[in-house]
Amino acid sequence: MKSKWERSEAMLARSRKSLAGGVSSPFRAKAPVPLFFQDGKGSHLWDVDGNEYIDYQLAWGPMILGYSHPKMTARMREAAEKPLSYGSQHELEITVAEKIQSMVPCAQRVAFTSSGSETIQLAHRLARAFTRRRLILKFEGHYHGWMDGALHSYKPQEGETGPLEEPRAVPGSCGQVANSVENVVVAPWNRLDLLEHILDEHEGDVAAIFLEPVLCNSGCLMPEPGYLHGVRDLAARHGCLLVFDEVITGFRIHPGGAQKHFGVTPDLATFGKAVGGGVPLSVIAGRAEIMEQMFHGGVVFGGTFNGNPLSLAGAAVCLEELDRDDGAALRHANRMGEALMDGIREHARRLGVAMQVTGFGAAFYPHFTELERLRDYRDTLADDCGKMQRFLRAALEEGVQLVPDGRLYVSAAHTGKDIAETLERLGRALEKCVE
Ligand SMILES: Cc1ncc(COP(=O)(O)O)c(C=O)c1O
Repeated sequence: MKSKWERSEAMLARSRKSLAGGVSSPFRAKAPVPLFFQDGKGSHLWDVDGNEYIDYQLAWGPMILGYSHPKMTARMREAAEKPLSYGSQHELEITVAEKIQSMVPCAQRVAFTSSGSETIQLAHRLARAFTRRRLILKFEGHYHGWMDGALHSYKPQEGETGPLEEPRAVPGSCGQVANSVENVVVAPWNRLDLLEHILDEHEGDVAAIFLEPVLCNSGCLMPEPGYLHGVRDLAARHGCLLVFDEVITGFRIHPGGAQKHFGVTPDLATFGKAVGGGVPLSVIAGRAEIMEQMFHGGVVFGGTFNGNPLSLAGAAVCLEELDRDDGAALRHANRMGEALMDGIREHARRLGVAMQVTGFGAAFYPHFTELERLRDYRDTLADDCGKMQRFLRAALEEGVQLVPDGRLYVSAAHTGKDIAETLERLGRALEKCVE
């Protein structure tokens, strides 16, 4: 039978001869079929074979307003008529920084760079310089970019993790500086008692606690009620900073980020993805005295493209749209996502598939699991990955694209009609998985 992805498959074969691996990020090679796209509008995408998809990948998060948003397109066109870069100051930097200040509780000061990984690198440096301490505490399963100092215990295998009370720091890549693990302490997510124990063990050495406020990168696990408040208190008691990595939750769960949604203000926060609505931009925001170390405290930071006019033009429109009508766009995205979560749960019940759907409306994950409650990364190791792979492929065949790890991102452009259509298609995809 002729493949419905013939042109994509041919392009991938061609691409592999020039582009390393044939894709621009190895994570993308994990898709059931690495597709090549030619267009997108709102919540829909078209691949080079002419297949249409209702899309829940959203370019791994940035397309919070959907594809080819008319105001974004118009503003980018306008910006492209002017210099693409100055490497000096321009007014949009202030406009966007002020906008973020008005939306995000911790944002006494803001700095721009190009990727989430860079913001984490800067946040590590700011935290260590401010506290004059060495260790970064992070949680198992949380992803903070691919840099040597940050890529630890993201997806450790079952035999590598060590005891839950004292998880091992497991490097995530070949070629990573071997002693980078010496500067990191790992804790299990959602366990205040164990976090306190680990902080006690390293009293006086932990510069900052880094976390994804919702564990989006390992199955969208919510913080348990009161957990983030508890971490805030522990950080204060142990004299270390609290850093929220809001690269996913930022401008997705709430216009003011997870910090506004949960009512917990960190010392620093990092943003990326949705902040620019599709343009390359990331942001670090936080307390003035910590941020100002870049200018008065000897902390070095740079970036040729920092404050790029095209990126900031995109962010100006995107943030304006997200902030409008008291955050109506994200309320809509989250409502659509919740309806989808409920519908998927209903399909699973109907078909007798053991499943837990976790997360929040605009970012969630259907786990094929027998567990009744998922609390931390180790619980996700019980997921049936084979079933997820079959589900992803069946969904793609039905014209629904998910993130290749099984996550679904929902945008402000998804409509009630999209959700109803998606549920029909995913119902059929699930049926195929249990046949
Ligand atoms: C929570 C989180 N932090 C940091 C990053 C790194 O961002 P980037 O891929 O822009 O370097 C990611 C990327 O997915 C992320 O999900």
